[in-house]
Amino acid sequence: MSLLAGKKILLGISGGIAAYKTPLLVRLLIKQGATVRVVMTPAATDFVTPLTLSVVSQNEVLSTFTSPATDHEVWNDHVELGSWGDVFLIAPATANTLSAMAHAKCNNLLIATYLSARCPVLIAPAMDLDMYAHPANQKNMASLQEQGVEVLPVASGPLASGLSGAGRMLEPEEIVDRLQKFLRQSAPLHGQKVLITAGPTYEAIDPVRFIGNHSSGRMGVALAQHAQRLGAQVTLVIGPNQLDLSDLAVEVIPVVSAQDMHQAVMKHFDAAQIVIAAAAVADYTPKHTFDQKIKKSAQAMTNVELVPTVDILAEMGAQKKNQFLVGFALETTDELAHAQQKRKAKNLDAIVLNSLQDAEAGFGLKTNKITYIDKKGNSTAFSAKTKEEVAEDIFAQILKHHA
Ligand code: CTP
Repeated sequence: MSLLAGKKILLGISGGIAAYKTPLLVRLLIKQGATVRVVMTPAATDFVTPLTLSVVSQNEVLSTFTSPATDHEVWNDHVELGSWGDVFLIAPATANTLSAMAHAKCNNLLIATYLSARCPVLIAPAMDLDMYAHPANQKNMASLQEQGVEVLPVASGPLASGLSGAGRMLEPEEIVDRLQKFLRQSAPLHGQKVLITAGPTYEAIDPVRFIGNHSSGRMGVALAQHAQRLGAQVTLVIGPNQLDLSDLAVEVIPVVSAQDMHQAVMKHFDAAQIVIAAAAVADYTPKHTFDQKIKKSAQAMTNVELVPTVDILAEMGAQKKNQFLVGFALETTDELAHAQQKRKAKNLDAIVLNSLQDAEAGFGLKTNKITYIDKKGNSTAFSAKTKEEVAEDIFAQILKHHA
């Protein structure tokens, strides 16, 4: 499957003759499974029509801050555009656009979108050879590179001026190849399946009552989101939660009890390369679930017998072949020693310890404070961070230890 499949590519077109090649570029991106939206500088519309680009991209093409509608002006939201894309590709990038980008000179919608974009930005410069080689232009490109922009090279050959030399925009096929290479580098988990458990489990006592815990599922969701960002195909098996998972680009399997979670996990375990058990699974479940609501009585209640649930993680540890298996340990005393024991007992490649002694760690919070313990028992302690940042740290460790 192409790395571009399902990717949202925002294409910025500035006003150079190479703009006439962009409908083909859009076509090639769409052929690879990408969704494309186009933002143009006003000058670019002299070289290629917004209508052509709108037809090939099957999306509205924007080039001004406002669009006149029949009875009212519509504001084109550069912030929305900037946060929409997975990648912002600017091709062709003229000397003028490069300069405006480098100096935050926000004089058109494309530059405003660039300044608002949070995604990686790639540019394919195109200009005459002397303009390209000019120290002022080279300085702008170097400055953009320093700011994290991926500046693609130019091709050599005949130029619009009649001269010949370095300054041509790369051909659309080459731009697509380079974009894929860039995505491969920033998606180290491409082609890998990641299975994550999250949230609490609810063990039914009767039709209205259950044994549960305060896990919010947030840590597991942050892990799933980050794994997806790293290019993995993610399955998230999650217990009852209050989170909005509608925007999550991962397979979500909602479960209720430890038994449900066990079943769902084992179905996906063989196919996974990385498995992270972040769920707070109930250790005990009622032996029998009452068919009817238990009635109140004055007597002490002793008829709910609890039996152990399956330890899902331990079972995966016993069955694992090549999976990289990561568990969580929530401890209140003797934290490191208990976590090390769990890592060994469950045959894990790593365990993430959070201690309830830490005010910033634990259920229901937006922050977490972890210690990552690898297979050799080496531990790395992190400061308190948001769960999203913790997810990044965990995957950085996993990538370090998992070939
Ligand atoms: N776990 C699991 N299935 C269970 C219990 C726990 O998969 N039935 C996983 C959790 O998702 C976590 C790890 O095992 O990754 C450790 O869970 P934790 O509750 O800290 O430890 P337990 O093994 O349950 O032991 P204890 O409660 O005695 O600390």
